Amino acid sequence: MPRTDYVIDEMISAKSIAARIEALAKDIEAAFSGTEKLVVVGLLRGSFVFIADLVRELDLNVEVDFLEASSYGDGMESSREVRILKDLRGEIAGRDVLVVEDIVDTGFTLSHVVRFLESRDPARLRTIALLDKPSRREVDIKADWTGFEIPDEFVVGYGIDYAQRNRNLPFIGKVRFVE
Ligand code: IMP
Repeated sequence: MPRTDYVIDEMISAKSIAARIEALAKDIEAAFSGTEKLVVVGLLRGSFVFIADLVRELDLNVEVDFLEASSYGDGMESSREVRILKDLRGEIAGRDVLVVEDIVDTGFTLSHVVRFLESRDPARLRTIALLDKPSRREVDIKADWTGFEIPDEFVVGYGIDYAQRNRNLPFIGKVRFVE
């Protein structure tokens, strides 16, 4: 059973997130300049707020698609087995693709998704994660772009949940359990 006896301390403000996304969007535009079309793939559900803000900063011809990958298990620990629960609607062969992840934690999810999508022969496949917890890494992977590196804390907000709650917070906060 997920706990409900917690408070949320703000870690990254909505303003800081917006400023960082603006800078990231400029880097992505430069990297993909001249692309015919960039397929921006959001990993459901945690990236839905991030992808919405990111694509509105991108001055490129963009298509938006979604993929749902899930680790088995519940609560605050990701397991090592990743399943694809919902596939893309569109084709990515020969296309430029940007995978948008909320958090890279152990790295199992992103590495599985990259292998899954690479097998479809995209022209270029790059990755972006809003948050990175490098101290938790078990698979040797790093997103091409990262919003913020954070310590080993459980975070919520800006699309990210704890047991399906708190996705609607406009900032990133860390969960602190109280007695
Ligand atoms: P990984 O496969 O361990 O890298 O886990 C990635 C996924 O675990 C993320 O996409 C999140 O859905 C989830 N996750 C990792 N850390 C947190 C957290 O602090 N809060 C909420 N979800 C998290």
